[in-house]
Amino acid sequence: QRPAKFEADGQSFVTDDKWNLSPAVIKLMERRLLQEQKNPLTLLKQRIVNHFHGKYRKPGGRSPLYAVCEQEPRVVSTFANFDSLLTPIDHVSRRSSDTYYVNEGHCLRAHTSAHQHKLMTQGLDNFLVVGDVYRRDEIDATHYPCFHQMEAVRLYSADELYQTRAGEELAVFEEIPDAERKPGKQERHTVDAVKALEIRLKSTLEDLSDALFGPECEKRWVDAYFPFTHPSYELEVKYEGKWLEVLGCGIMEQKLLESAGVTDKVGWAFGIGLERIAMVLYGVPDIRLFWSRDSGFLSQFEGLKPEDDVKYKPISAHPQVLFDISFWLPAGVAFDDMRADVCDVIRGAGGELIEQVKLSDEFENKKKGKNSQTYRIVYRSNEKALSKEEVNVVHKSIERELVEKFGVTMR
Ligand code: PHE
Repeated sequence: QRPAKFEADGQSFVTDDKWNLSPAVIKLMERRLLQEQKNPLTLLKQRIVNHFHGKYRKPGGRSPLYAVCEQEPRVVSTFANFDSLLTPIDHVSRRSSDTYYVNEGHCLRAHTSAHQHKLMTQGLDNFLVVGDVYRRDEIDATHYPCFHQMEAVRLYSADELYQTRAGEELAVFEEIPDAERKPGKQERHTVDAVKALEIRLKSTLEDLSDALFGPECEKRWVDAYFPFTHPSYELEVKYEGKWLEVLGCGIMEQKLLESAGVTDKVGWAFGIGLERIAMVLYGVPDIRLFWSRDSGFLSQFEGLKPEDDVKYKPISAHPQVLFDISFWLPAGVAFDDMRADVCDVIRGAGGELIEQVKLSDEFENKKKGKNSQTYRIVYRSNEKALSKEEVNVVHKSIERELVEKFGVTMR
């Protein structure tokens, strides 16, 4: 059952027989993980953006080199997603079994590369594109129909690429293009241009990898194929004994630049899978966890700065049980002096069953001259589903201990 119209990101489309979006994938589109402050993917996105802004500046140093594009519409034309990127007409990625089609001419972007053409046409030379992308894929620990990518494009004039002064002779284009392309380079590029671009590209990505994982993390370059870059590479990172592909990249096909109106530059591009990087960086074992609304998952990333190092601690598959505790503080005791002590008692008495403790309310009753605090305690066991009754026994013992130790009055 397909709707007559489909609306997304302020655009409206008339559907046709190509339509193959499921209710489930539409739900995923509505979620917008990168707008959730405590989602680890949001932290990672910000960390990578900070890295690029910190390291690469426009001449003069006042402003960041890369423009960041996060609001591109997620329904794109098949021209943007495929043709502009020179994807052959019979390429597997165009099949309805691989791509979500809204209609014959439009699909959900399958990669952030879908925005390269338009952004270059608009005159951007150096940019990052971040967002959710969609592929009809199997679902397992490393695959999900929606995931997140960060794209980068960097264009150079000959002077920028070689850092020569104007007038010095080092060309980026062959005067007479080769009749055929070679495994290592495109027809129009000089050997010098390809070498310089490859060094710039790989060192940019190795620096990023070192900044994220530390220089001791094992990584390797693998030759790859993409219709829109040549030569192309993938970077793999060792994670739990296995090589994990984390990004694709390469020297941009000169035809792409030409069709976007760029005639005097050459460039590289890369596309990073944010989930894959986040799995390695934060030790998240399963890609489906990024979609979890379980506070046992999300609370582990709450309140962190993007640069903070954190390792995910697996949460139990059993359900949480929530209990609040509210009390009056003894006269003359300040809010601040209470918090750490209360948490210690809760963790001490509740032991393994305490997953989270959070101060949820605090107020002063001026008339009575008394201060009140409320804590929300999340109980969860690794072994079994807890009943309210058994949690209540533990909860009562916590209350008793708070009364005895600190003289609080339960409300
Ligand atoms: N778009 C490619 C992908 O999703 C990654 C890529 C981006 C490769 C840019 C080369 C250049 O797999």
